[in-house]
Amino acid sequence: MTINPPDLCRRRGDYGIDGDFRVIPARWQAMIAAAIVAALIALTVRNIAAGAVVGAVVTGSLTLGLVLFQGSYLYTTRVGKFEVWSRLLTDLRLRGDEQVLDLGCGRGALLLMAAELLPRGRAVGIDLWLADQTGNSPEAARRNAEREGVAERVELETGDITQLPFADNTFDLIVSNLVLHNIPSPADRRAAIDEAVRVLRPGGRLAIADLMATNGYRARLHELGLTDVRRRNLGWRMWWGCPLFPTRLVTATKKI
Ligand SMILES: C[S@@+](CC[C@H](N)C(=O)[O-])C[C@H]1O[C@@H](n2cnc3c(N)ncnc32)[C@H](O)[C@@H]1O
Repeated sequence: MTINPPDLCRRRGDYGIDGDFRVIPARWQAMIAAAIVAALIALTVRNIAAGAVVGAVVTGSLTLGLVLFQGSYLYTTRVGKFEVWSRLLTDLRLRGDEQVLDLGCGRGALLLMAAELLPRGRAVGIDLWLADQTGNSPEAARRNAEREGVAERVELETGDITQLPFADNTFDLIVSNLVLHNIPSPADRRAAIDEAVRVLRPGGRLAIADLMATNGYRARLHELGLTDVRRRNLGWRMWWGCPLFPTRLVTATKKI
């Protein structure tokens, strides 16, 4: 009898919205975006009423572009990343007894999907709980773990991914989504890659998705002697507003 993997996309938790909310809070950013769209709509209506065809086309196009950009961003953060990661995690064909680490787990989007695939394993999430996601906190991640029914297999650590508090060769799989680009210095991003490789078991797999610097991650993984190092675009479901801001996935395996 074939046992189908759980439908990982069916989420019961609340995973917030990704973004940089360190300087301007999410609510303010949403209000500013709405005000710009409203102003552009008003301008378009005025241009149409005045018979200014070129002006109407310009402001109308800007309005449409901005609405599409915001729609794509919201789709990616609320739906797309879950669809993409549920497929990626399912395709890894885990046995169910692995130790999995999520670098920068936030409210648990990947971490808790992975936990569903680990009935006899352990899913560990580490984060500094910065304002890179709305409502980001260990309490929010813990609440989500309870709502998803996987709390007993989930561990949350507060820590910096450039200095992981785990022993060498601990994890079978390390995943990360949209985290490393938040680390400002290239040296610290490189330290995060080095640390991930250090705590990965020989034969273990790594899957890191990010917005930028992914060529650098691939190069560093090559230098560290990992095999099967690949980088690919995750497609429109993980565009952050438009095709100019795609998400790329770097995967690799640690030599046995
Ligand atoms: C955009 S959120 C993504 C969260 C989660 N991976 C997801 O896809 O839902 C980025 C996360 O990275 C965390 N983060 C950023 N720099 C970090 C660091 N140096 N160490 C640990 N976590 C970090 C933030 O606190 C935040 O939770």
